Amino acid sequence: MLQIDGDRFLADLHMLRSFGAAGVGKGVVRPAYSEADVAARRWLATQMKGLGLRVEIDAMGNLFGLAEGPSLLLGSHSDSQPEGGWLDGALGVIAALEVARAAQEAGGPAVSVVSFQDEEGRFGVTTGSAVWSGQLSLADADVLKDDAGVALGDARQAMAGMVTGDVAPDLFTGFIEMHIEQGPALDTSGEKIGVVTDIVGIRDMKITFEGQQNHAGTTPMHLRRDAFQAVSAFNTLLNDRLRNVVTPQTVWTIGHVSLHPNASSIVPGRAVFSMQWRDADTDRLARMETIIRETAAEVAQTQGMTLSYGTLLGLEPVAMDTRLRSALEAGAEAVTPGNWRKMPSGALHDATNVARFLPVAMVFVPSIGGLSHTFAEDTAEDDLVAGVLVLAHAVAALGSGA
Ligand code: GLV
Ligand code: MN
Ligand code: MN
Repeated sequence: MLQIDGDRFLADLHMLRSFGAAGVGKGVVRPAYSEADVAARRWLATQMKGLGLRVEIDAMGNLFGLAEGPSLLLGSHSDSQPEGGWLDGALGVIAALEVARAAQEAGGPAVSVVSFQDEEGRFGVTTGSAVWSGQLSLADADVLKDDAGVALGDARQAMAGMVTGDVAPDLFTGFIEMHIEQGPALDTSGEKIGVVTDIVGIRDMKITFEGQQNHAGTTPMHLRRDAFQAVSAFNTLLNDRLRNVVTPQTVWTIGHVSLHPNASSIVPGRAVFSMQWRDADTDRLARMETIIRETAAEVAQTQGMTLSYGTLLGLEPVAMDTRLRSALEAGAEAVTPGNWRKMPSGALHDATNVARFLPVAMVFVPSIGGLSHTFAEDTAEDDLVAGVLVLAHAVAALGSGA
C-alpha cells in the first residue's frame, strides 16, 4: 500500500490555488496561457523535477512529468474557466503528484504526471488533450479563437520558451484522472466517492445572426432586424422543440452571447452566441443538431437575419476501461465501504481524448452543493484526501504495467 500524506497533498493544492486566486471563497482565474496559468505550470514543472520526473512540455503547453520506463499516467488540467474554483482540474494534477511521490517512496510502481492545457476550452473543447491525442491537428487548433478574438496560435506563444517537444502516448500503460464531480449526485446522497462508468459526448459551435444595426429611438418595431430578438426567439423555440428528443440527462446551454455594438440606444445588428449540447448518445446529439440548425434557419428567415455557423466541435461519449475501473472500485470499497457509487460523468474531461490511445478511468469526489465553474466550488478536505487514497489504492493494485 502507498503511504499518502494528506497534509502534504492539501498544502500543494492550496499552493496551486495561489496562482490566479480570485473572488470570494476559494475562487481561481487561471485561463489557458494567462500569466497565472504559465506561472502555475512553471511551479508544477519544478515540483515534478523535485520528484525526479523528466519534464517535457509539448507545443500546446501540455506539461508532463515522466517516470522511467513504462508507467501509469495520472493527472488532469491546471487551467481554469474565466471564473472557476480551486479544484476543477487542479485536484487531479496535485493528487497525481502526491501518488507519484508516495509510489517513489514505496519503490514503485512507476507513475507519470500530466497537466493538460486548455481543458476548459478557452479556444475549443479540451483543446490541449485533443491535440495530444490527434483528435485535432495543431494547425487546426492554432486558428481557433477565444471570445475576445485571440487566436490559439498567438496565445500559446506565452509558453514558447518552455516547449521541449512531443510526448509519445506509448510511454504509458493507462490513464487515471481524479476530479471533483461538479454536480449534485454525491453531495445529495452523502456518498464519498464516484467511480465513473462513462463520459458524455458534446457538440459546441458558434451561431451568428446578422440583422441591421439601427437607431433605438427612431426605428419602428415592425421595421427592425434586431439580432438580440432573433437569439431570444431561437432560444424559446429551441427549448420547446428539443423536448421531444431529450432525456432528463440531456443538457444544452447558450453560455456566451456577444451583441454588436452592445449599446443601450442601438438596435443590435449582430449576435454571435455559443450553442453547446451534451448527451451520452451520439444519435441523439445528431438529432439535436438537426433541430438546432432547422430552428436557427427558421428564425433567420422570419426575422430577416443572415445566418452563419462556426466550426462544429465535438467529442464522442466514451466508456471507461473495465480493468482500471475495477481497480478504482476496489479502492473505493476499501476506503469507504458501501459508501460510494458508479456513475456517469456529465462534465467533459481530458480522459475522453486520452481514451483514443490508452485505457482510461476516473474517480470523483463530492462537490459541495453540486457547484462548479464558479468561485463557490468546494469539497470537504476529508473527501479530497479520501479520493487520493482511492487513487493510490488503485495504482498500487495495477502496478506500472496496467
Ligand atoms: C469541462 O470543464 C466541461 O465543460 O465539462
Ligand atoms: Mn475539469
Ligand atoms: Mn471545468
